[in-house]
Amino acid sequence: MDFFAYKEGQLFAEDVSVTSLAQQHGTPLYVYSRATLERHWHAFNDAIGEHPHLICYAVKANSNLGVLSALAKLGSGFDIVSGGELARVIEAGGDASKVVFSGVGKKSDEIRYALQQGIMCFNVESEPELHRINAVAESLGTQAPISLRINPDVDAKTHPYISTGLKANKFGIARERAIQTYELAASLSHLKVVGMDCHIGSQLTEIGPFVDALERLLLLIDELAERGIVIEHLDVGGGLGVTYDDEEPPHPKAYAAAMAEKMDGRSNLKLILEPGRAIAANAGIMVTEVEFIKQGEEKSFAIVDAAMNDLLRPALYSAWQNIIPVIQGSGATPHTYDVVGPVCETGDFIGKDRELAICAGDFLAVRSAGAYGFTMASNYNSRCRPAEIMVDGDEAIVVREREIQKDLWKGEHKLT
Ligand code: LLP
Repeated sequence: MDFFAYKEGQLFAEDVSVTSLAQQHGTPLYVYSRATLERHWHAFNDAIGEHPHLICYAVKANSNLGVLSALAKLGSGFDIVSGGELARVIEAGGDASKVVFSGVGKKSDEIRYALQQGIMCFNVESEPELHRINAVAESLGTQAPISLRINPDVDAKTHPYISTGLKANKFGIARERAIQTYELAASLSHLKVVGMDCHIGSQLTEIGPFVDALERLLLLIDELAERGIVIEHLDVGGGLGVTYDDEEPPHPKAYAAAMAEKMDGRSNLKLILEPGRAIAANAGIMVTEVEFIKQGEEKSFAIVDAAMNDLLRPALYSAWQNIIPVIQGSGATPHTYDVVGPVCETGDFIGKDRELAICAGDFLAVRSAGAYGFTMASNYNSRCRPAEIMVDGDEAIVVREREIQKDLWKGEHKLT
């Protein structure tokens, strides 16, 4: 459930009219709802109940300081994949001791920074990475808390680009090598084995693969215990899907409860979840203005002022996101349009074959844009990235200003 709804034919974000935001701040514009973000975070956190746990929001989904600070105030942990994301979490008031650091290619300086900040755990993806973390920890005279990301080899049944738990993926350590890799980790004097981790993919719409993965990891944890390696936390990753169109993913409550249920009787094993999309996607929209209606030979186009550089998912994954009018019943005749941006690529579309009753000058809202929207935006075609607004009740806070042209060449130098 989210807090974007029509009131008398006008789209509202909580108590703020989206038209007024578009008029005041210009378009394209990202608009987030704080109440929605918080509701989604609580849905995970509450469903786990009494079992020791931590929700580590996946920062890559939406790393705006407004979003991170709202979640930090709830006591959230964070899943990061770079030194930059850690810096954002700290700047937003997040607690480094609730941070897990994922990713296959951590650089030594990122590892050093994370150790200096006192993060909770490194989710390690290979043997060379273990050696690198051990060396950096030694140079700082400390011990690094680590967990191994195990590849449980389950089919997440999602888009191949965002499926990560299969043997063919670059991620994690094969189950068959898990014990020996844990033994290696335990033998390195500047590492402390604390956890086990997995992440099988994103936008999953069934509970089954999550449960399968969890069961496989629990077996491994028991096997390790027999060899004297005690795992204190189990991180089951992120990946719960959301409704973009007609998908019916399990509710976060049902998902989190299913995970917690499997942990029954293991009160010494803390459960960590790393949801990104399920918290942020439907807590955001992207607002865009129709610039022109163009009648092509075979198709009609609604040319809007947002493009693939602002919202990449449709171009990159052929992702479908709902496009709705900001004001209903404008009086225009409904027609089928490809909603396209101004970027010079055929792949630059926001939606195809959409039935819309619109004229030039109307505002449209692209739904489910709160996750992997702005974070994947670029300056392609030298376009300034959009502003981001956080709505909180009847308040609208600019959480990122629109870029200006001077920002486009920041750090560049002309030749003399
Ligand atoms: N943890 C790890 C280690 C991850 O790699 C990811 C996402 C997450 C957590 C969060 O997954 P979520 O709960 O958001 O599904 N750009 C793509 C999604 C890529 C996801 C990559 N990893 C998209 O727009 O669909």
